[in-house]
Amino acid sequence: MATINRNYLKLPGSYLFSAIGKKVREYESAHPDAEVIRLGIGDVTQPIAPSIVKALHAATEEMGNAATFRGYAPDLGYAFLRETIADKDYASRGCDIAADEIFVSDGAKCDCGNIQEIFGYDNRIAVCDPVYPVYVDSNVMAGRTGEYDPQTQRYKGVIYMPCTPDNGYTPELPTEVPDLIYLCFPNNPTGAVMKKDQLQEWVDYANKNGSIILYDAAYEAFIAEEGVPHSIFECAGARTCAIEFRSFSKTAGFTGLRLGYTVIPKDLEAGGEKLWPLWARRHGTKYNGAPYIIQRAGEAVYTDEGQREIREQIRYYMDNAKIIRDGLREAGYEVSGGVNAPYLWLKTPKGMTSWEYFDWLLSEVNVVGTPGVGFGPNGEGHFRLTAFGSRENTIAAVERIRKASL
Ligand code: MLT
Repeated sequence: MATINRNYLKLPGSYLFSAIGKKVREYESAHPDAEVIRLGIGDVTQPIAPSIVKALHAATEEMGNAATFRGYAPDLGYAFLRETIADKDYASRGCDIAADEIFVSDGAKCDCGNIQEIFGYDNRIAVCDPVYPVYVDSNVMAGRTGEYDPQTQRYKGVIYMPCTPDNGYTPELPTEVPDLIYLCFPNNPTGAVMKKDQLQEWVDYANKNGSIILYDAAYEAFIAEEGVPHSIFECAGARTCAIEFRSFSKTAGFTGLRLGYTVIPKDLEAGGEKLWPLWARRHGTKYNGAPYIIQRAGEAVYTDEGQREIREQIRYYMDNAKIIRDGLREAGYEVSGGVNAPYLWLKTPKGMTSWEYFDWLLSEVNVVGTPGVGFGPNGEGHFRLTAFGSRENTIAAVERIRKASL
């Protein structure tokens, strides 16, 4: 008789953003005249930049021509894209990363979720709290987290690293040494960053203890301040303790196109075994590569024209962030983030819980955000808004929140 992977039963009913989507759809069907503004899931609203669209068209034409048609993509990605990434994202920042250490994929979410498969099932994970839910959920599915304790709202086998206003939303080094450490900076959901010297401490800690840092740098393109590393490989010694995830989703509006990549240095080992061949084996077995036309679009992101266009889009979103930050601060809210990241992190007013504030915002002003507690118990009493809306919706949402009385 077939049985199920019972670890799935330990998970909350649905993925955070699916749960929010369902609540909003239910509200909209009960209130068909409501003009709901969505600043919940971090989905982009600006169209794909013209030079990238041109590359998509050109690659599509190639696929329709027998002489230039391509079938399966190389497992690890086309050399034209991997070499461009190695040069523009790494060599240009003084990082020693070779093209064949880059694994192209259909996005950072899948890679962040799947990477745990190459590690032992007895590995202990450490995560920030609050945290992007994929890291914990994917380890729950793999049976690595122990039972869920409804009292503490935590899995018993996970090391949670509190990120609070007191530590500037950057975690302290854990006293109990984890095997795998998930870090995401600029941070989703708080928008906080780590300076290079802070990140260097984590690299030194991981090297000293034989831990691996799984570094999610999906939001690096939004960094505006000096001294904030764009890659963990800017830190000395990261090649022997870190894996990095990058995404084209927010950087270049690819949430619908799907493209990302993972960097695994060839020297990186766990328990005396190299990790690169394991991920290559996994990729070869379970994945047939990101589509050719999407990889060509990714390459176009790095052209001068592509860079100029995506920089403009990033500026647009970060101007939205400023509108939300300034507007809500004037209205008396405590707001952080939104300087090096497209997320704003608010303290909920009047001691409301995150979900109470979600419900109030949706029903009273028809604005959707993400309850902080959805990212972990330390997110309780907080709320996330994204800067990825249109300018018009961002201004309208801030106005509605400011005018509403609680
Ligand atoms: C978010 O809103 O946290 C992200 O859009 C989710 C994701 O990138 O998967």
